[in-house]
This record gives sequence, structure tokens and C-alpha cells, in this order.
Amino acid sequence: MKAASQPSVLVTGGAGYIGAHTAKALHERGFLPVVFDDLSSGSREAVRWGPLIQGDLRDRAALSEAVATHQPVAVIHFAGLIEVGRSTVSPDLFWEVNVAGTVNLLTVMREQGVERLVFSSSAAVYGQGGRGPLETIAETADKAPASPYGDTKLAAEWMIAAQCRAHGLTAVALRYFNAAGADPSGLIGEAHEPETHLIPLAIAAALGDGKPLTVFGHDFDTPDGACLRDYVHVTDLAAAHLAALTVDLPAGAFEAVNVGSGRGHSVLQVVEAVGRAVGVPVPHAIGPRRAGDPPSLVADPRRARELLGWAAQHSALDEIVADALRWEREPAYGAGHRDPANRRRSPTPV
Ligand SMILES: NC(=O)c1ccc[n+]([C@@H]2O[C@H](COP(=O)([O-])OP(=O)(O)OC[C@H]3O[C@@H](n4cnc5c(N)ncnc54)[C@H](O)[C@@H]3O)[C@@H](O)[C@H]2O)c1
Repeated sequence: MKAASQPSVLVTGGAGYIGAHTAKALHERGFLPVVFDDLSSGSREAVRWGPLIQGDLRDRAALSEAVATHQPVAVIHFAGLIEVGRSTVSPDLFWEVNVAGTVNLLTVMREQGVERLVFSSSAAVYGQGGRGPLETIAETADKAPASPYGDTKLAAEWMIAAQCRAHGLTAVALRYFNAAGADPSGLIGEAHEPETHLIPLAIAAALGDGKPLTVFGHDFDTPDGACLRDYVHVTDLAAAHLAALTVDLPAGAFEAVNVGSGRGHSVLQVVEAVGRAVGVPVPHAIGPRRAGDPPSLVADPRRARELLGWAAQHSALDEIVADALRWEREPAYGAGHRDPANRRRSPTPV
């Protein structure tokens, strides 16, 4: 499978949503993506552009063997636990996988001389952090994670930065805002189980495949009272990883960069956009606020442009929703309501 001149990149979590889209982008740029994933939430069918090593980040020997076998020029580290709500009931598990798992990876990279890392961080590192309700967030903003999940992302960033200073690793932490959409090819898309993300849940509700949507809170200090979020197309995210992997940085540099569109859309605007795309209104009800939900999380994306030459190209809300809908109608894999056998094709009348 590997051409003589094709450099390998180890992609932890490459069977998951963003990892699979980045593996495709790596392949298109001439890299061989070697996926290391325990398939705890990822899908074997999402690994199409290179080998899959089924292993757990907590198993240092398995990581070490993967690196020794494939000699990657760099690592892109997506693997981890992502559900904010679950992190509040099992914080120990989140620290074990997201933080101790990252320690394992860094140790193996140092032992085997892999000097380049791109890490999946998150806008969750910011929390509300003393901003005005509608201010965009620059990388220098206060860090005040509102969940154990956000804590683990910030702790992993600190540890990576320390490893850069101590051992000359060069790393970029990409702080994603809300990843959404799907590859236009229809080969890969979002298949979280359980799904907690707004756009697939709104589509499932409109298609009659899911529960009516709950909009959490309508009394925020925002134009329509609903939370504002920055949705970034997953193919734009994948392109940001290629930029972070190849940008010229000195040995030992650590950079943390927002990856967002710089535009905020309210939950109700997303609900309307999904209704327009599906052709029926999204059945929804207004519920109470969720603990720790900031009114607005919108990136100031200037640093990504300056450092990486990256800006979102496909993150207009209607393009994101159209690509997500194409995937949700014909998912190539996935569990639960996405299993083609379980689907009801007719939209629920509302
Ligand atoms: N989806 C978003 O909007 C978003 C936003 C900010 C940050 N992130 C971060 O991006 C990364 C990828 O997110 P995603 O949405 O693609 O999630 P995902 O759940 O689809 O992918 C995560 C992958 O990691 C694997 N994994 C989990 N634990 C593992 C372990 N112990 N060992 C090996 N593999 C393991 C899973 O099987 C899965 O394939 C995560 O680190 C997440 O925290 C995601």
C-alpha cells in the first residue's frame, strides 16, 4: 500500500469523525495515514486511506510498536473521549484517556525521535473566561474550562508545551470550535454514538429518525436568546491539520491556534437552516440551560490565517447543513438511528 516515497503520519483516533476526514486529506497530499484507534467510538469502515492498528492509547507498548513499525514523520492526535456530559460523571476516565494517554504518546514519540505533533484541542479550554457575552475569542483569552473534558484538553496542551521546551518537539494545538458537516463524497461523515451534536440531532429530528430536539436555554444575552456557536466544516478542519503539519516552525515551538469560521450562529438559526434544507420544520422544544454552557463561543480566527495561512472555505451554514444532510440520508456506516435498517425515510409532519 505504501509507495516508496510516501511518508507516514500516525493518526490516533483516525477511525473517528474528524480523524477520518483528515486521513483523507493526508492521502490527497501524498502522506500515508496510519490509523491507531481502539474503535471505542470510531468505525472500521471510516479507515479507507491507510492501515488500521487497533489499539488503546493507554497501552504504551502498543503505541510503541505502531511507531516502530511505521516510522511516522509526524503524529496527529485525535484519539480521546469527547462527551462533555460524560466527563462530569467520569472525570477519572477522561484524565486517564485524554491526559495519561497523551503522556504515553509523547513518551513514545520522544523515545523514537518523532518530532512533530498536531493535537486536537478545543474551544472548551476557554469556558466563559471573563469575556463579554458576544466577544469573539482570541487565543490569549482567559482559560476557564467549564467541564472536566475542557480541563483535560488544557492539561494536555500544557504538557505538550512542556515537552516542546524540554525535548525540542514541535507542536500545534488546534482549538476547534464546533466541527460539523461531512465530506461531499459521501464516503465518510459524522457517526457519534451517542450523538450529542446539534446539526445531526436536528436533521434526525426533522427526518423523523430521532427525538424532537431540545434547545437548551432561550434567555441568554444574545440576539435571539439562544446560544451562539461557531460551526466549522469538517473538510476545513482537515485542511487546517495539513497546514499545521507542514507549516515551517522552529524546533521546540508550541503554538495553540483557534480553528473556527469567526461567525456565530444561534441554535435557533441552525434549527431554521436544517428545516429549510430538509423541507420540514425541525420538531423542537425549549428546555432549561445546561450547566456550563457559555452564551457564545465564536473564534477570532486571525491567528490561523497569520500562522497557517488557513481560513474556512466551506463553513457557510447552508453548505455545512447540506453536506451533513446528504450524509444523514445515506450514511455509509454508523450505529443507532443511522443504521440504514432502522431508518424511516419520511419526514415527521409537524
Ligand atoms: N467534534 C467536535 O466538534 C470537536 C470539537 C473540539 C475538539 N474535538 C476533539 O477532536 C478529537 C476528535 O473528535 P471527533 O469528533 O472526531 O471524535 P470521535 O469520537 O469521532 O473520534 C475519536 C476517536 O478516538 C478513538 N479513541 C477513543 N479513545 C481511545 C483510546 N483510549 N485509544 C485509542 N483510540 C481511542 C475513538 O474510537 C474514535 O475513533 C477529539 O480529541 C475531540 O476532543 C472535537
